[in-house]
Amino acid sequence: MVVGLDIGTSYIRVAIGDYDENGKFRILGTSCEKSMGLRNGNIVNIEAASNAIRNAIDNAEQNAGVDIVSCYVSVGGDQIEGENATGKVAVSPKGKSQREVSKDDIERVIESATAVQIAMDRERLHVITQDYIVDGISGIKDPMHRLGVCLEAAVHIITASRTTIQNIRSCINRAGYMMNGVMLKTLAAQKAVATEDEKELGSIIVDMGAGTTDILVLVHDAPVYTASIPVGGNMVTNDIAIVKGIPVAEAERIKIEYGCCWMENISPDATLIINGIGGRPPEEITQAELCDIIMPRMEEIFTMVLNKIIEKTNLTQLSGNIILTGAGARMDGIIELVQNVFGTSAVRIGLPERLGGIEENYEGPEWATAIGLVLACKDDVKHHDLKKNRKHLSSEKEGKGGNIVKRFLKSLF
Ligand SMILES: Nc1ncnc2c1ncn2[C@@H]1O[C@H](COP(=O)(O)OP(=O)(O)OP(=O)(O)O)[C@@H](O)[C@H]1O
Ligand SMILES: [Mg+2]
Repeated sequence: MVVGLDIGTSYIRVAIGDYDENGKFRILGTSCEKSMGLRNGNIVNIEAASNAIRNAIDNAEQNAGVDIVSCYVSVGGDQIEGENATGKVAVSPKGKSQREVSKDDIERVIESATAVQIAMDRERLHVITQDYIVDGISGIKDPMHRLGVCLEAAVHIITASRTTIQNIRSCINRAGYMMNGVMLKTLAAQKAVATEDEKELGSIIVDMGAGTTDILVLVHDAPVYTASIPVGGNMVTNDIAIVKGIPVAEAERIKIEYGCCWMENISPDATLIINGIGGRPPEEITQAELCDIIMPRMEEIFTMVLNKIIEKTNLTQLSGNIILTGAGARMDGIIELVQNVFGTSAVRIGLPERLGGIEENYEGPEWATAIGLVLACKDDVKHHDLKKNRKHLSSEKEGKGGNIVKRFLKSLF
């Protein structure tokens, strides 16, 4: 059994999957519960967050009819950092003088690429190989047994703040579960939504949640850029609440029911009713007025996304799609808005792969991360014998969990 836990600012989503008797993977159950104790994707109240996590996992267990002991968790937000690095080694001669790249050489070149010191307060989450170069020839996916003298590797290294990871782990432990591993949420999401072609051609994953908008740029099937901005759908809701002078809950309701961020999608005479608050009579406004509040903020957020990407990557390398995930992607008109900001028609909503079970329970773009976690981690589970896993997990309780996480992540890529 593999459990994916997506701890978001507004919702916690859980997906449980396993292999059936024919070895086919499927989703057994899911749950989505209101989140507590988070701000902009970061845990700020451990007690509140762990109660919400317990509640969400309990419901997923009931939904799937199983008991679980541990889960894989997503992490995101602006404390995540991604950086590109390269390493170079001489290929060691085998036998006489023939130089053929060996497993040992590959290990050494990755070691050399990751030799950069990381700060004490940070933890390495993922090291993903982008490319191998043998004697100056690049674009080599697997250099094993290639003849050559010099082996180089380009990697993308993703790090997270140690405190963030510790907070996540203690919330899960307090809720009564173990954490098997942590994965960057956009990296998980792309597993569930991006096609092989999209990943190879160069695509951008943009996950718009309530408190953060996370970005992952993939080129030739590997991340080249990771970023996050601490704004999301909550900001849009707040704008509506402020401009109309109404409570956040009412602003959220009208946003979800009538919100649109592209004026051309709205008929000019369409209206909506804002419920009366504190003795005030209900107010009728046009949907165009609501769009006037929403559109500039959405445009601002996606312009920030674009500027970050332009600053750090070469857009001409991206001939795949811009794939939108997170519940923020449900906003009417978002495709048109992003097409306009990025100046391309290659924009789509990322819906998670259908994997059996009650598919309508996990079909929206907000399920990409939880389903992606399960997909990314399922092979890890298949190859682990449960008893061994339990032994590792008990050592995690004593605070030696770092190694399990590392081992798990190493086996992923
Ligand atoms: N139909 C909809 N139209 C527009 N916005 C929506 C819709 N449904 C949900 N949202 C917005 O999506 C946001 C929640 O997205 P999501 O559930 O992906 O966030 P989260 O994972 O809890 O947060 P984060 O990833 O930022 O930590 C909220 O701001 C909500 O208002
Ligand atoms: Mg989220």
